[in-house]
Amino acid sequence: MMISVSNVFYVYPDGHEAIRDLSFSVQKGECIGIIGANGAGKSTLLKLLVGLYTPQSGCIVIDNMRMSKQTLRHIRQIVGFTFQQADDQLFMPTVYDDVAFALRNDGINEDEVNQRVANALTIVGAMHVKDRPPYRLSEGEKRLVTIATVLAMKPKILLMDEPTAALDPKARRTLIHLVQELPHTKIVTTHDLDFVLECCERTIVLANGTIVYDGPTENVLTNEPFLHEHHLELPLMLQRKK
Ligand SMILES: Nc1ncnc2c1ncn2[C@@H]1O[C@H](COP(=O)(O)OP(=O)(O)O)[C@@H](O)[C@H]1O
Ligand SMILES: [Mg+2]
Repeated sequence: MMISVSNVFYVYPDGHEAIRDLSFSVQKGECIGIIGANGAGKSTLLKLLVGLYTPQSGCIVIDNMRMSKQTLRHIRQIVGFTFQQADDQLFMPTVYDDVAFALRNDGINEDEVNQRVANALTIVGAMHVKDRPPYRLSEGEKRLVTIATVLAMKPKILLMDEPTAALDPKARRTLIHLVQELPHTKIVTTHDLDFVLECCERTIVLANGTIVYDGPTENVLTNEPFLHEHHLELPLMLQRKK
């Protein structure tokens, strides 16, 4: 088991209950899609899993380690997280420096930094932009670079918050292939139900901070009334078949 979430509650400082009594677990190598209307709690859940927020009650276990102040540093090395806005993650003068940033922060020597940056950028197919300033890149290139910054840390788990948002069709296709090839345990939040259909065997549907479905992707993405009830639509791929 890579991730185990038990009876987690999270309330924002203003009193908003964003996550209510959430429980699920994830096995090694699974790729899970998390869908749900705006405000359902998708981003909050990912931030809990990477330890950016601390639940008021309940327990999160990552790779057999219970999340706590003491284990947080170690858990951050296991869990890589890409923010919904790529610009929140890229802030150095060049792509190379951004991918190297966390490695240098960890005191890794420059030879190994160099190797890991090149390796990560090669995996995502962005080696050619390594000397460019991130803010000049296209949304698709930025997205690939944010994934490289995470891969360079050699995580076991990848959490991605709406990775296909703002991508053009070609960039989206590149991202789908990349996600399909990465062997990590993955959790991806998205409004892109076609993406879920292609990449995730299992889907969790969130509504008002709780799980209303957790099971095979096919079953839920073909259930039109249920999707409508949760402000979601049939994937385009399935609409065409009708
Ligand atoms: N910093 C915050 N303070 C108070 N409420 C928040 C904050 N961030 C998000 N929320 C609320 O928590 C709920 C879940 O938000 P979020 O996890 O961002 O949803 P999603 O990613 O599914 O759109 C929403 O109702 C949102 O308004
Ligand atoms: Mg969100």
